[in-house]
Amino acid sequence: MTWLPRLPPRLLLGTLPTPLVDAPRLRAELGCGPLRIKRDDLAGFGIAGNKTRPLEYLLGDAQAHGVDVLVTGGGPDSNFVAAAAMAARVAGIACELVVWGGASLGPTPNLALAEAAGARLVPLGDDRRERVDVVVSERAAELRAAGRRPLAVPRGGSTPVGAAGFARAAAELLDQCVRLDGAFPASVVLPLGSGGSTAGLLVGLAAAGADTMVLAVSVSRPPEEITPTVLDLARACAAALGTAPPREDRLEVVDHRGPGFGRASAADRAAAATALCTEGLLLDDTYGAKAFAVALARLRAGLVHEGRPGPVVLWHTGGVASALTHLGEPVPATTGAP
Ligand SMILES: Cc1ncc(COP(=O)(O)O)c(C=O)c1O
Repeated sequence: MTWLPRLPPRLLLGTLPTPLVDAPRLRAELGCGPLRIKRDDLAGFGIAGNKTRPLEYLLGDAQAHGVDVLVTGGGPDSNFVAAAAMAARVAGIACELVVWGGASLGPTPNLALAEAAGARLVPLGDDRRERVDVVVSERAAELRAAGRRPLAVPRGGSTPVGAAGFARAAAELLDQCVRLDGAFPASVVLPLGSGGSTAGLLVGLAAAGADTMVLAVSVSRPPEEITPTVLDLARACAAALGTAPPREDRLEVVDHRGPGFGRASAADRAAAATALCTEGLLLDDTYGAKAFAVALARLRAGLVHEGRPGPVVLWHTGGVASALTHLGEPVPATTGAP
């Protein structure tokens, strides 16, 4: 990783690099320019998808600091909680997961996977997602007082250390684009949740001096709330890695919460169906369907290449368990306003 000489200690979990594939049928369907899919759904660590990447650095750092219990959390459908439980197990440390959701806290595949990997689930008892990070810190403090060595990690693993995973992913992508297309990508489209993936991507692109535009599709929070979070995270990550600061002018955050977190609109489902029926991509309602809905609409309208030679890259972040859980469910009646 020539552009990133100061990456933190890493616990190898994934099978990286993930493939960067052509998308000829999708491209024909959209009538657009060069298009590639970054297959992080094939990241190779369980079904952790993109969350493999932050966990490699979070657990590498935890091991380096003698941590004996990882405390983190998320929702009942969260890919990250299942992935964190597995990663902690591989690192040889315990794991506690604070999970939001009241009556809805059912035996979802992701929670079942987390429990199968030996994690202790701490139900929050209500749907206030923002409380997870507070309770994670409180639980870590309790464990510390009891003589344990906990690491508290916010939802999604979105810390400066976790973001290093996507800084590395950016370098991986640029390397692949140069080899395959002879140019850096014109733009990258990805879903934006807790922000670590987008922040890391900005760091890796800036470190390489790439002019690539990042189109981040916010599925959880309004842009005015999540954009400063992403940029703060990116700045802290760049400072820790000793690289150039992220370029704000290369980030566009699109509000695509639609009917709500985890709920796809009819248009999102149509985009997922197009991805499935052209390139065999399985997208989840929470992240993939929404990011692809925005990307496909822009590509159809010819808006994403900005007249640049490089490809547009659609980042398939994974979400397999969630995608299979909700496949075939009816779309909610309400659409539109977040
Ligand atoms: C499948 C999938 N895609 C995208 C994201 C969003 O990534 P981030 O939280 O780093 O913004 C997540 C977060 O959990 C995810 O599970």
